[in-house]
Amino acid sequence: MLRATLIFTAGFLASLGAGWLALPKTLYRTEAQPLSFNHQVHTGDKGNMACEDCHSFRENGSFAGIPKLESCAGCHAEAMGETAAEKQFVANFVKPGREPQWKVYARQPDNAFFPHSPHVKAAKLKCEKCHGDHGKSTTLPLYQVNRISGYSLDVMGRPAGRWGLQRAGGMRMDDCVACHRQNGLSHSCLDCHK
Ligand code: HEC
Ligand code: HEC
Ligand code: HEC
Ligand code: HEC
Ligand code: HEC
Repeated sequence: MLRATLIFTAGFLASLGAGWLALPKTLYRTEAQPLSFNHQVHTGDKGNMACEDCHSFRENGSFAGIPKLESCAGCHAEAMGETAAEKQFVANFVKPGREPQWKVYARQPDNAFFPHSPHVKAAKLKCEKCHGDHGKSTTLPLYQVNRISGYSLDVMGRPAGRWGLQRAGGMRMDDCVACHRQNGLSHSCLDCHK
């Protein structure tokens, strides 16, 4: 009897452990980015570009987000270096004028509103504060989507994020609200929700 209980308990714990490890994997599906992008080669010593050179604000104050192909084409009309990544980019996107459909790691649900301008311009927050070191990365992180909600792991990273899967400082409502509290901002649900 005791032996059976022990075997049962061991089996139960083992399957619990397996489920615990497998859950984040089965809950998230990986999707491919259109091409590999190396921030470091552009923002590091070699390229020496500022974030704003590619991620600018429009005249009306709205954030332009991920740059369009036209802002790459000036430098990449022909390959400048020898890397396969750049040759593919020139052949598959620049020459045919095909816009890469980048997937946005930080993309919020449609009903949540996030403006960059008050954060970057007024509050002078660094990009790294919310996005981690993406701007210095050499390869793209895996883009993982929650199978149920369709949201990116970076936004809907918990509870998986609690186990170390979430990359950046946090893009969840708790994170937004915590920082707003620290800054003494009083606001209603409707500031962030439409
Ligand atoms: C040469 C143009 C270029 C420069 C300079 C550049 N970026 Fe980017 N950035 C891109 C492109 C293209 C993407 C889309 C691919 C990707 O996700 O990395 C991107 C994506 C991003 C994203 C991903 C947003 C998301 O949630 O998907 C972040 C964060 C970012 N850049 C931050 C920075 C920071 C910080 C700097 C300055 C240190 C910087 N970038 C400089 C071109 C640039
Ligand atoms: C101011 C010039 C400049 C602009 C603008 C620019 N790049 Fe680059 N890019 C470079 C340089 C320099 C390299 C390194 C080339 C080499 O291998 O020596 C590079 C390398 C690359 C590579 C190959 C990186 C690797 O993996 O080794 C890709 C892909 C690329 N750029 C995509 C882009 C995209 C997409 C944009 C627009 C969002 C862009 N670039 C805008 C200068 C630029
Ligand atoms: C206070 C947090 C915060 C700061 C600071 C911040 N971001 Fe973001 N960023 C976000 C959030 C949240 C989103 C998703 C917005 C959405 O889905 O509407 C985002 C989206 C983006 C995107 C994708 C936009 C798109 O729609 O294509 C890029 C690129 C980006 N940020 C770059 C930057 C850069 C570069 C800086 C610094 C100049 C910066 N961010 C500063 C939180 C932040
Ligand atoms: C690290 C701190 C920080 C984080 C994280 C942050 N915010 Fe903010 N946010 C601020 C500050 C500071 C301001 C006020 C800026 C100013 O002086 O106008 C602000 C302003 C705003 C405003 C404008 C409010 C108004 O009354 O005009 C909105 C909307 C907003 N944030 C939404 C968000 C959302 C959505 C998120 C999470 C995805 C978020 N914020 C994350 C610090 C933060
Ligand atoms: C500072 C900005 C901010 C404020 C203020 C805010 N929210 Fe949110 N909320 C968000 C963001 C960003 C998300 C999406 C990310 C997430 O689910 O954590 C969200 C998500 C949610 C969700 C879950 C949506 C989903 O698909 O899971 C609910 C429900 C919600 N908010 C209700 C509220 C209510 C009610 C209030 C007022 C008491 C409020 N929020 C105030 C930013 C905010």
